[in-house]
Amino acid sequence: MRRHWKKLLAAALALGALGMIVAVSGVIPVRASGGHWAVTEWLLHFAMRRSVATHSMGTTAPRLDDPAMALKGAVHYDLACSPCHGSPAQRSPRLARGMVPPPPYLALTLGQWDQAELFDIVRHGVKFTGMPAWPTAGRDDEVWAVVAFLRALPRRDAAAYERMVRGDTAVTVVSAEVPSLVVDNCGRCHGVDGRGRAPGAFPALAGQRVEYLLASLEAYARGARHSGMMGPVAAELTPEERVTLSRYYSGLPALPATEGGDAAAIARGAEIARRGVPGARVPACASCHGPGGVERNPRHPRLAGQHAAELALQLELFRQGVRGGTSYVHLMAPVARGLTRSQARDVAAYYASLAEPR
Ligand code: HEC
Ligand code: HEC
Ligand code: HEC
Repeated sequence: MRRHWKKLLAAALALGALGMIVAVSGVIPVRASGGHWAVTEWLLHFAMRRSVATHSMGTTAPRLDDPAMALKGAVHYDLACSPCHGSPAQRSPRLARGMVPPPPYLALTLGQWDQAELFDIVRHGVKFTGMPAWPTAGRDDEVWAVVAFLRALPRRDAAAYERMVRGDTAVTVVSAEVPSLVVDNCGRCHGVDGRGRAPGAFPALAGQRVEYLLASLEAYARGARHSGMMGPVAAELTPEERVTLSRYYSGLPALPATEGGDAAAIARGAEIARRGVPGARVPACASCHGPGGVERNPRHPRLAGQHAAELALQLELFRQGVRGGTSYVHLMAPVARGLTRSQARDVAAYYASLAEPR
């Protein structure tokens, strides 16, 4: 019996050594140009389907029917995913043709995945393929926005898709003062007018302080502020472009206060802004964010006229400790610790209802 085991062990070692020799010799093709054998491809895809099904168990989708959410996912899809997966406007992008396995045209394959599975794929990527993971941790809200868009993708024709991902950059008569990057990139989310498309999908930048805009772009670019949407965009900009774009948006007229909101919530929010929440050691927001004529540090963002949904989102990210920010972000720590969710909603409603003279 023992002799038997010894023989088996020797055979296994010999096989392993042979495998090493073959691998070292380099005759096994790992070149993508040869493609996978059908059986390898089947096995990889099968393993991926099983992995996705298992890992997405227990994930519950938030509500995905908000059009602002799908819009947020749409522009990101066009910039970051369509070069591989194509879009109704360009079904077979050049980059994708040489890839192994090829990135599928999603409108045709999405039916096989449920929402939680799509979330898992977009959040974590797929090993052994070109499919990348979401660039930042902690931003599940952004990944869900992409899933919200994917659900609507199969129903869109090229024209509807273009309208969705270009917004007013396609129709505005753009004057010479508008930097071309605003038309090709930033304006597709923030608007050429800087007010943010689809109230609440994107932050308004118009009239924001130039120092804060610039410091925020730098923070995204070096990964100190965490967003899988803004991070890659900011990292591509040169320092000069960051300055030009910050000046452009800061110089535009700010939002007029259009978001009425619930009067009682606004009144509660105003109280927090003026006095803070002394019992929870939350300082008065107004001392850093206004309104009021105090000369404030230019790195403190203006909040007046920002969309309520955007303010509430940023406060929630502070709460969860995943927002990051500029070198002044520590000033928000007592706020993040002390403010409850409903207080955050109230104070967001208050600032959204203000039109501070800027
Ligand atoms: C560099 C190219 C590349 C980029 C960029 C990319 N993907 Fe993929 N993706 C792939 C490849 C390759 C696969 C195929 C994986 C496989 O066959 O198992 C894939 C698979 C998928 C799948 C599963 C498709 C199916 O039905 O099998 C989804 C969904 C998906 N990607 C969504 C996205 C989204 C959303 C983005 C943008 C946030 C994105 N991908 C960005 C290459 C890419
Ligand atoms: C795909 C959509 C998209 C594009 C394109 C885009 N942004 Fe953004 N931007 C966002 C989103 C979403 C946020 C909020 C991210 C977060 O939660 O931190 C944001 C945040 C910002 C902020 C911080 C605002 C604040 O109030 O804190 C600045 C500054 C900014 N973007 C500038 C730009 C500039 C300049 C460009 C063009 C080079 C650009 N963005 C392109 C989606 C986009
Ligand atoms: C001591 C000064 C200070 C106080 C007090 C303060 N903040 Fe801030 N807040 C900041 C700074 C600085 C930032 C910019 C953080 C960064 O990105 O680096 C900020 C950012 C924010 C943002 C994100 C804005 C955006 O466009 O992304 C929100 C929302 C906010 N604060 C809400 C509040 C609220 C609500 C209160 C009161 C309950 C408050 N803050 C009190 C200094 C302060």
